[in-house]
Amino acid sequence: MMTPNDQALLEAARAARENAYAVYSHFQVGAALRTRDGTIITGCNVENGSYGLSICAERTAIVRAVAMGYTEFDTIAVVAHPLATPCGACREFIIEFGQEIRVLCADANDLSRVQSWQIAELLPDSFDRASLPRSGQ
Ligand code: THU
Repeated sequence: MMTPNDQALLEAARAARENAYAVYSHFQVGAALRTRDGTIITGCNVENGSYGLSICAERTAIVRAVAMGYTEFDTIAVVAHPLATPCGACREFIIEFGQEIRVLCADANDLSRVQSWQIAELLPDSFDRASLPRSGQ
């Protein structure tokens, strides 16, 4: 069920998508993170002539948020046309900050076409910081 807060997050992701630098794939993606305190931080994909360096919208949003001092996230919205779910690398990047983060993916042309998951459903049995041995042990 989408709340008014979810709708606002999807709208923010759609607006961020306008800034996508997708000159190679022409596949524009916008993302918007909602922090636990309700702040919205957006990102878009940023491609590069050395194709492998391209960064997805989700990771752009997370890197921006962390640089601003936020590490506690409630939901990430992803908007593309057609609807796209986060790639494997982005799933790892999202789950770093919590198994329970919600992921909303919507079609840019119709935000009511939306799917939602918890990140752990998209990346079951994940490698995360709990998998790392603690130093000194
Ligand atoms: N992309 C994203 O930004 N997020 C996704 O969830 C899927 C893929 C970008 C990466 C690349 O710039 C373009 O979409 C095509 O793969």
